[in-house]
Amino acid sequence: MREAIGLSNSSMLSIKDLTYSFSDERPIFQKISLDVQPGEFVSVIGASGSGKSTLFKLITGLLEPDVGEIRIGQQDTKRRLGQVGYMPQKDLLLPWRTVLDNVLLPLEVTKEKSQEKIPGVREWLACFGLADYENAYPNELSGGMKQRVAFLRTLVTGRDLLLLDEPFGALDSLTKRNMHSWLLGLWGELRKTVLFITHDLEEAILLSDRIYLLKGNGIQEIKVSLPRPRSSELIYQSDFMAMRKELEWLIQHER
Ligand SMILES: Nc1ncnc2c1ncn2[C@@H]1O[C@H](COP(=O)(O)OP(=O)(O)O)[C@@H](O)[C@H]1O
Ligand SMILES: [Mg+2]
Repeated sequence: MREAIGLSNSSMLSIKDLTYSFSDERPIFQKISLDVQPGEFVSVIGASGSGKSTLFKLITGLLEPDVGEIRIGQQDTKRRLGQVGYMPQKDLLLPWRTVLDNVLLPLEVTKEKSQEKIPGVREWLACFGLADYENAYPNELSGGMKQRVAFLRTLVTGRDLLLLDEPFGALDSLTKRNMHSWLLGLWGELRKTVLFITHDLEEAILLSDRIYLLKGNGIQEIKVSLPRPRSSELIYQSDFMAMRKELEWLIQHER
């Protein structure tokens, strides 16, 4: 079992009694709470429109809760902007910038000395199988490669908590499976904390320590007690299938 890392007992992310609504409508979230420990891989699932992407915007600080508290590490709740590595659902690479320049973008935005980071980024590109594509433009890349570039762009922010909004949603199933193996290996190595949105239940079970299901305007936690390290072969095993059935039942009996 992979142990949670970090010095403290404190959470990497803590959300307490969060309520949020767009305009005067019925709240998308009504007093929801969740917690993510350092080094965990946690997925967020829920029907389309259940508020998954909105939850991420609240965590990053792009939106503010109506009521409740969102804390990233020890930071003051009001100072969340720039504290996480965020890969939005539609993370389009800029078509007029090369792979390298796309990856360096967040460092330019925060006015860090991006030139000094180039050797490190080159090493990463090699690890990600993109060594020969440093000067390529996004339209020359496959879907899986584009997602790896977008992920690397999230990683170079240097943040410990990564929020990934359906990063593999648009990929075909074979590419997706390769990306799962790749991400599982990488996560084991990097020891980052990941909060991962998906609507693919198999993906959620395969990757996660825990899953949060958004239902109605509430939230439900499901623990995934499958041993690690995991490989995509796991999906054919009976305890995996049982877990999948349980999740499907929970989703269908939402209300
Ligand atoms: N900026 C916005 N203004 C008003 N309503 C919004 C806005 N963004 C999202 N919504 C609504 O909030 C709900 C949740 O959206 P979203 O978080 O994108 O869901 P998900 O990512 O789970 O598919 C949806 O009903 C959506 O229409
Ligand atoms: Mg979404």
